[in-house]
Amino acid sequence: MSSQPLKNILLIGANGSLAPILIKHLSADPAFNLTILSREGSNSVTPANTKLVTLPTPYQAEALAPVLKRQDAVIDLIQPFDLEAHKTVIDVAIKAGVKRYIPPGFSAKGEDPYVTSRAPIAAVKAKIKEMLQSKEKEGLSWTSVVCGGFLDWGIKVGFLGLDTANCKAVLYNNGTQKMDLTLLSDIARAVIGILKHPKETENRYVCINTFFTSPAAVLSVLEKQIGQTFEREIRDAESANREGREAVERGDLSGSRDMMMGLMAGAEEGAVNGYGKDNDLLLGHGTRPEGEMEEVVGRVLKGDEV
Ligand SMILES: NC(=O)c1ccc[n+]([C@@H]2O[C@H](COP(=O)([O-])OP(=O)(O)OC[C@H]3O[C@@H](n4cnc5c(N)ncnc54)[C@H](OP(=O)(O)O)[C@@H]3O)[C@@H](O)[C@H]2O)c1
Repeated sequence: MSSQPLKNILLIGANGSLAPILIKHLSADPAFNLTILSREGSNSVTPANTKLVTLPTPYQAEALAPVLKRQDAVIDLIQPFDLEAHKTVIDVAIKAGVKRYIPPGFSAKGEDPYVTSRAPIAAVKAKIKEMLQSKEKEGLSWTSVVCGGFLDWGIKVGFLGLDTANCKAVLYNNGTQKMDLTLLSDIARAVIGILKHPKETENRYVCINTFFTSPAAVLSVLEKQIGQTFEREIRDAESANREGREAVERGDLSGSRDMMMGLMAGAEEGAVNGYGKDNDLLLGHGTRPEGEMEEVVGRVLKGDEV
């Protein structure tokens, strides 16, 4: 693989928690020509200097072919469970000569059977990565991002179990298990880093984090910033994971938080954490000291972009 940066980038799936910040950072970087592919009827809003293409779903190979032509890299943010959609895009990408594929990952390490048996979404992501591995010899390389939980998004929507609006906390196994937590802006920097360092990131997971810390430590920073002690509920991580997973399997997505936070809190550290080992390459800094959380969390609470 050449070490030349990748220039023509196609991002698929413009809504959701992650796409808007990726689009913001990629479209502001003159190194890239960004095209966005969205479903027909989607209400995605994209910057003026990007090209937006919409297609009816399910995406068909014939309609995708002209969109993928001359693209150097694909960032696939299609919701992970639609395996057929990922397979179709991957096959068209190979035929179009795309060089790099970034599949849905953007989570904790997902390969360990501990993880795949406790989170169907991780099992599906592992399948997409295996699909890509089986295609390496056809010329399409891949990079998947391991980042643990989304820190700022998690605080805003309560996904870490910390409800700032009502000052309530659910702590899984006391909340003291340390885990990778990453700001959305660092994920955007990492994606840009992959596109600018294709050789060093070829056919592997890259691991980034902003902090390596625990929900209990984030809680104490939140309490200090907000000036109020949160009401605490302690949950057993394993049973929270099981109950959350059963709810998700019934179609009740409100179980996602218990499933994922129970999984992270109950795991052996090494099964879920990547420890930011690619931070220096992709972010230009190591894991930030926990002492910096106060400033970062303060800005998240104010609604500033961090
Ligand atoms: N680690 C964490 O804490 C954390 C938190 C949240 C998410 N994540 C991960 O981040 C990634 C992005 O998740 P997200 O929540 O931002 O987005 P998402 O809800 O998974 O969906 C992403 C986009 O996919 C497109 N889409 C949905 N269904 C589709 C289909 N059947 N065919 C084609 N396109 C379809 C939509 O874009 P258009 O409307 O533009 O077509 C949608 O906005 C996922 O891998 C997710 O697991 C991680």
